[in-house]
Amino acid sequence: MFKKFFQRLKFKMMAKQLRRPSGMMGGKVGSMMNKANEFLYDFTLDVMQPANNDAILEIGFGNGKFFDKMFSKAEGVKITGLDFSETMLYAAKENNKEAVANGKLSLQFGSSDKLPFPDNSFDKIFCINVVYFWDEPIVHLKEMQRVLKPGGRFYATVRTKESMLKMPFTKYGFSFYESDNWKTFLNEAGLIFIEEKPVNEPVVEFEDNKISVQSLCVVAEKKL
Ligand SMILES: C[S@@+](CC[C@H](N)C(=O)[O-])C[C@H]1O[C@@H](n2cnc3c(N)ncnc32)[C@H](O)[C@@H]1O
Repeated sequence: MFKKFFQRLKFKMMAKQLRRPSGMMGGKVGSMMNKANEFLYDFTLDVMQPANNDAILEIGFGNGKFFDKMFSKAEGVKITGLDFSETMLYAAKENNKEAVANGKLSLQFGSSDKLPFPDNSFDKIFCINVVYFWDEPIVHLKEMQRVLKPGGRFYATVRTKESMLKMPFTKYGFSFYESDNWKTFLNEAGLIFIEEKPVNEPVVEFEDNKISVQSLCVVAEKKL
């Protein structure tokens, strides 16, 4: 009985840290996410295809280890990052001192349901492993619609519900949206659903189990 109790406690804490990493444990979670999620960053950048001089917003950047990948894809790209974890904001600033100092990268504190940016600011917005924590997705998506430039695109990369349910911590406060949900939400937020790109990830290890994981990137566009 005690074993089960402590295991539940551990998974609850893990879920809370993944939602909003904090303190020393948050720092460790940031490094763990880098290992687990680099594949999804490469995949999302392949789908997104940054173009020269794009203004790009990333929501929920974790410790910001992968901004360099974006700068290497095109010339003159300007990136803004927004995260509501003080711990991740601090770590990302430490990890990207040069890009921040030379003005290529701006890192800000805030939540995606109330974006601190003017209308029509970005060519592309993306987030990876973030929408599980959106309790009211339409509120967040309306904000994406507002700050995207006309014709700009939104990319949300997530692991599928089936894959996530193989990891026991996802029982605690994670939401999963499937194709039909996405189409409805995007439509209500005034965005056009473009496509859903699937990908099979390399096998992931979780507590000595090897888990096969499918992910996908949902792509939407703001009307011209
Ligand atoms: C599970 S982590 C994913 C980090 C990184 N994108 C990755 O895939 O490795 C979720 C990140 O999104 C941030 N986050 C979650 N909900 C957010 C929101 N509504 N607004 C801004 N940041 C959010 C968390 O603080 C955390 O840094």
